[in-house]
Amino acid sequence: MSVRGCFITVEGPEGSGKSSQSRALVRTLKRAGYQVAWVRDPGSTALGRSLRRLLLETSASLSPVAEALLFIGGRVQLVEQVIRPALAKGRVVVCDRFHDSTVAYQGFGGGLDVAWLDRLGRSAIHGVMPHLTILLDIPTAVGFRRLQRRRDRMERKTRAFHQRVRSGYLRLATREPRRFVVIDASRSPEAVRREIQQVVMQRLKQRVSWY
Ligand SMILES: Nc1ncnc2c1ncn2[C@@H]1O[C@H](COP(=O)(O)OP(=O)(O)OP(=O)(O)O)[C@@H](O)[C@H]1O
Ligand SMILES: [Mg+2]
Repeated sequence: MSVRGCFITVEGPEGSGKSSQSRALVRTLKRAGYQVAWVRDPGSTALGRSLRRLLLETSASLSPVAEALLFIGGRVQLVEQVIRPALAKGRVVVCDRFHDSTVAYQGFGGGLDVAWLDRLGRSAIHGVMPHLTILLDIPTAVGFRRLQRRRDRMERKTRAFHQRVRSGYLRLATREPRRFVVIDASRSPEAVRREIQQVVMQRLKQRVSWY
């Protein structure tokens, strides 16, 4: 893996603020003079956009393993086509969701074997894992109250499913305390934004010691 760039992912349950906070982070980093690539998973490649429609915007009934493999396939394309080249150029890559989403949703939420899924997902992307993962933690009900729009396929799953997703994410963070930073996302957007900025700026300064 490239040792030049810096790979940051933003994770968390529905409505935790991943998209709005990653957008704000990108703006801050650009202002500070960093070259930044902002991507989302699934998405940000032609395959990713097709898969996003298939996986989130249809009501297709998919086998859980097929669903997980499609998410992973989209990610392989994203890593090879966008993330790895950007890191090789020394960019900061900010990615809205990544591997941990598959483990949290299809593993902890959907009941697939977590260790198997984690191994499979990491090997498919040749271990191109984030240096830093911001986990926006929020109670399930609070996140859902923020979502006004029509719910997508994942969002229509049961409350129990989403509670397993949330606690799964927290388990992942406990397992890899150096990679994860858990942030209380139930506060105001401004408070969350400030904390993310502080954490990221501090990590970028210490970057040399990550490798
Ligand atoms: N801290 C906050 N307090 C109140 N509302 C918020 C906060 N952060 C985001 N929102 C609002 O909640 C909604 C969801 O935010 P956003 O799309 O950023 O979350 P997300 O984690 O990307 O959601 P999804 O899981 O659906 O992709 C938006 O309408 C956003 O404006
Ligand atoms: Mg989003």
